[in-house]
Amino acid sequence: MCGIVGYIGNKQAQPILLGCLEKLEYRGYDSCGVAIAGKDIEVYKDAIRVKMLGEVSPKLNGTTGIGHTRWATHGVPSQINAHPHLDCSGNIAVVHNGVINNCQELKARLIREGHTFTSETDTEVIPHLIEKYYHGNLEEATAAALDDIDGSYAIIVLAKDRAELVVARKDSPLILGLGDRENYIASDVPAILDHTDRVVYLEDGDLAVITRNEIKIKQNGSDVRRDEQKVSWNVEEAQKAGYEHFMLKEIHEQPKVIRNTLAEYTRATEHPVDLLGARDTGTDSMLLLACGTSYHAAMIGKYIIRELLKIPPRIEIASEFNYYSDVLSRAVAIAITQSGETADTLKAMKKLKEAGCRVLAVTNVVGSTASRIANETIYTRAGPEMSVAATKSFTAQLMALYWLGITQSRIDARKLASLLTELRQLPGKVQQILDDEAIIAKQARNLSRFENVFFIGRGINYPVALEGALKLKEISYIHAEGYASGELKHGPFALLGESSPVIAIVSKDNTHDAMLTNIKEVKARRSPVIALAEEGDEAIEEVADAVISLPRVESLFSPVVNTVALQLLAYYTAKERGCPIDFPRNLAKSVTVE
Ligand code: G6P
Repeated sequence: MCGIVGYIGNKQAQPILLGCLEKLEYRGYDSCGVAIAGKDIEVYKDAIRVKMLGEVSPKLNGTTGIGHTRWATHGVPSQINAHPHLDCSGNIAVVHNGVINNCQELKARLIREGHTFTSETDTEVIPHLIEKYYHGNLEEATAAALDDIDGSYAIIVLAKDRAELVVARKDSPLILGLGDRENYIASDVPAILDHTDRVVYLEDGDLAVITRNEIKIKQNGSDVRRDEQKVSWNVEEAQKAGYEHFMLKEIHEQPKVIRNTLAEYTRATEHPVDLLGARDTGTDSMLLLACGTSYHAAMIGKYIIRELLKIPPRIEIASEFNYYSDVLSRAVAIAITQSGETADTLKAMKKLKEAGCRVLAVTNVVGSTASRIANETIYTRAGPEMSVAATKSFTAQLMALYWLGITQSRIDARKLASLLTELRQLPGKVQQILDDEAIIAKQARNLSRFENVFFIGRGINYPVALEGALKLKEISYIHAEGYASGELKHGPFALLGESSPVIAIVSKDNTHDAMLTNIKEVKARRSPVIALAEEGDEAIEEVADAVISLPRVESLFSPVVNTVALQLLAYYTAKERGCPIDFPRNLAKSVTVE
């Protein structure tokens, strides 16, 4: 994780870098810093947020600089461990996103050679290695230093008296933003949207020299061309637009996201991947994998594909899949990752590709690493998601999975037509939930008093229970567990009682009666029950303490309406508890370390 930025041009670099860094805080924000090349390299860094750094740092003069916002991997968040890091002479400064695996060995060697270190970070070996190899050519010295390194990195190198920045990437994202007699470097597009929409996506192994007028990219020592692309996201999409938090704005964007994603898929004439081929090659031929919230989308995908394609796909948490050696013969693997940069997911994708599998990425970020590894990519059209907690990107992932399932299903034509009609009605139904959010906010006020909450669901709404619990715990810091309803009595029942509320997600399908029974069992143990149920579900109203009534939808689509309601419940609970909703402690949006 971590976010890095660089600027070289004719304007003062410090305010530009700070502005860009604020947009990258979703990647980590435990400390931050900037280095500006003036007469000397001046560094200002601390274990504070970017906004505060802007308020307390002195004015650093110079039109070339680099910046960093950190998510600690090696060493606690502190001023000393914050980036940028310097070499011994103070003439070379580096910001880094990634992990240097052989840093201990390199550090020991450099210490023997006379280098002194100040921080506990792995990054600090980089400026020292560059210093060691520097004989007047920064590009060559950086290339030599990177040859010694085993690990992942996106780096920007700044050196005194040089009108250039040297950048490189391997397994961590890095983009260049092109301006008029100025250039930008950043971990991600939203950082530079205020300044330019002209972007170059660097590839793994690229090393580039950036001046204010030029970029020169090399791969293995030879010049390469990377095409300039125009970004379709706009500045407004990456701003709060009057909402108190990005998360609330992003929850409210979901009707539009569903509409946009469906419109795009409807326009497309070709199916990105032949899932039917997977069906014909047997039941062992499809794998869905992902991490975090995207894994919950994959779990729902399993139900969708089972229902519509009659294939029972295997699903895996990407980080666990990476330890298996027996699942490499699959015909089709679908990797779901909103950022397209999650290290574990990328590793799994590479492993599958090397084994000859066909890999399909479902991602929200054009040009992301996942899209480059994959044989084919389905883009979700959620727009930039700034809040750490995934909301609209999850809904867009579900749309991609529904679309894949529906367009390739062989269920009868009438049923298919009715599913398509329902799908198109979803934005309106989600809007209804948003319009009634005050009802959910009221329940959230009640929920905010508790410290342990269980979420239960069955069938396609079991993953929704997991996602509801994840959302609540990550932003409100309430301990929450999601359970398949039937499993609650195999252990968690021991914790039920007046201080352990249960959120029951009920759908009007073949799970309904069992859910009703489960709610009664929970009530008998005195746990307060808040149920999410279809409007007019009197049976549930009779047993639950409170019911959040949701519009009627086809069971297959119930995860969408239920998840939106749970996102609002988590949001308003966290708000009631005064939590920093967009930047939950210890979390980052893009997890680029294993
Ligand atoms: C982080 C984010 C989650 C996200 C997960 C997987 O933990 O905070 O919101 O679900 O990474 O990210 P991906 O980009 O692969 O979907």
